[in-house]
Amino acid sequence: MELLYDGKSKRMFEIEDPFVLTVEYKDEVTAADGRKREEMPGKGRLINIITSEMFEKLEKMGIPSHFIERTGDTTQLVRKVEIIPIEVVVRNLAAGNITKRLGFKKGREFAPPLLEIYLKDDALGDPLINRAHAIQMDLATDKEISELKKRAHQLNVALIDIMEEMGLQLVDFKVEFGRDTRGNILLADEISPDTCRIWDPKTGENFDKDVFREGTGSVVDTYKKFYEKMEATK
Ligand code: ADP
Ligand code: TMP
Ligand code: ASP
Repeated sequence: MELLYDGKSKRMFEIEDPFVLTVEYKDEVTAADGRKREEMPGKGRLINIITSEMFEKLEKMGIPSHFIERTGDTTQLVRKVEIIPIEVVVRNLAAGNITKRLGFKKGREFAPPLLEIYLKDDALGDPLINRAHAIQMDLATDKEISELKKRAHQLNVALIDIMEEMGLQLVDFKVEFGRDTRGNILLADEISPDTCRIWDPKTGENFDKDVFREGTGSVVDTYKKFYEKMEATK
């Protein structure tokens, strides 16, 4: 296998099939665009299992993605896409960046859900952009941006359902999309407690990477608890 990309939390390998990649999830946790970083044994395995099962659940709900199959503890096969360098964030409740940047009170409900787009560029600190910026920068066409927004809102509805079944509340999430060889938009990257905010609606307990960002708990123990809740719904 040839290493195509060594990212903050996963490695992407090219295999014989030119349309498929092997993803290997690492035991690394990062925040603040990689400036905060720690090695956590067992984290890669947990995220690989969680994100694989998330994509499987979504497929059954009529939301396709790049996911093909999990091939090992830390590996999975995905359809190779050309990533659109836009991070699409959907917020149901205010938390994180939006509470600091715009002063929304933590936990304030957004109805309808608030959708934002960010430029995927660590060197620039993943800045918030708008549709006009994205078009001027040739990140995506106007039509593609409409498609990303539509897909992200549909995904939000499905993810809210999945979390509710687990007794949890989806606060917000970030997703990435790519183009396949025919130019069709496909949901890519990962959906996990690394890329979503998830709360216990009764206690407000965090089931996501905020325990690492805020230094309030163990990432591996938190993700284990999240996975146990996922298993309990099977
Ligand atoms: P980062 O780039 O932020 O360090 P990761 O460690 O998650 O992120 O690295 C995975 C990289 O692979 C990301 O840049 C992501 O956009 C990209 N990627 C995710 N899914 C696919 C795919 N199906 N095809 C090609 N690239 C992908
Ligand atoms: P934010 O409040 O920091 O903007 O994060 C919103 C959501 O997006 C949250 O669920 C965490 C996720 N996210 C990522 O997955 N990667 C990132 O680089 C950032 C900034 C946020
Ligand atoms: N994903 C980003 C990083 O790993 C930021 C974050 O999730 O807080 O640096």
